[in-house]
Amino acid sequence: MINFGAGPAALPPIALERARQDLVDFEGTGISVVEQSHRGAAYEKIQAATIDLLRQLLAVPASHEIVLLQGGARTQFAMIPLNLVAAGGSADYAISGYWAKAAADEAAHVAKIRIAGDSRGADGSYRAIPTALELDPGAAYVHLCSNNTIYGTQWHAFPETGDVPLVADMTSDLLSRVIDVARFGLIYAGAQKNLGPAGVVAVIISKELLERSRRDIPTIWRYTTHVQNASLYYTPPMFAVAMMRHVLEHAVSIGGVAAIEATNLEKANRLYRSLEGRPELYRLQAEPSARSNMNVTFFLPTPADDARFLAEAQRRGMVGLKGHRTVGGIRASIYNWVSLADVDALVDLVGSFGN
Ligand SMILES: Cc1ncc(COP(=O)(O)O)c(C=O)c1O
Repeated sequence: MINFGAGPAALPPIALERARQDLVDFEGTGISVVEQSHRGAAYEKIQAATIDLLRQLLAVPASHEIVLLQGGARTQFAMIPLNLVAAGGSADYAISGYWAKAAADEAAHVAKIRIAGDSRGADGSYRAIPTALELDPGAAYVHLCSNNTIYGTQWHAFPETGDVPLVADMTSDLLSRVIDVARFGLIYAGAQKNLGPAGVVAVIISKELLERSRRDIPTIWRYTTHVQNASLYYTPPMFAVAMMRHVLEHAVSIGGVAAIEATNLEKANRLYRSLEGRPELYRLQAEPSARSNMNVTFFLPTPADDARFLAEAQRRGMVGLKGHRTVGGIRASIYNWVSLADVDALVDLVGSFGN
């Protein structure tokens, strides 16, 4: 089956094969990865290698630390304001969709926040990215969600925020395109789209933000705790981390992020072109300038047509195409590990459906 699911999403077959081996005999230790001591040399080596691979692939500068945490991307929605907004301070949020709003709503429980821009349309949906942001130069940070998984929109250029650190939820596009990490104070991503299985979250944070992060919050929520303990403060999600390493090694072997980005662009272009070629049948959700290269969202004329499209896709071996429950329609998630051939199978369906 071809998996177009929005996440947890398709993974490289070679990473799945290696994960199977990890469950039989991890790195020649004679026991599986999930039975290892997380303080043992075999696992520690793998975790360090995973972090090194992330650093290499994303060209993370020495000014930034990388930690692997648990609790999903949603835990970061709270951890970020807890750590970074000083007493009496506030943070700016750009709202471009469901997850950006969820991050702002969660932050509002622990800090004062301002909405710097909101691209919600009159019909309640998000077809665009907020344009002119009204930024507070005194804000602790500006938060945005780089790819809006549900609506299928994406920031293709990031805003200038002056001295205010930029914080980004890159859960659904980290490792899919080249980014300049130095421009961000903090980047976070749940692994379950492009990086590996659910259960581990990658956080990249500048040393400058670490230095000014709060110490008057519980130990477990402090970024400094996890940096100082090399992401081993709590027992890490060892299986997920080991699998992430296999995914990242595969990413290196195929040419790294630049090569991945080139393929992702080709995949997205082919799919958007095929949808645009039949405007009487398909209506794209996102405005052209805001279209995501990860999640392609569209509607057929009626919900009954959507259902017929999904049934035909299933018949042809394609799953995970149903739009998010809050939006409906069709969503094709074409993350890193959905191949060009997989996308071509969908392009074929788009072109021939209903003929
Ligand atoms: C952009 C974005 N942020 C956050 C989340 C929530 O992630 P988690 O389930 O790991 O908390 C998702 C999940 O799909 C997402 O797409």
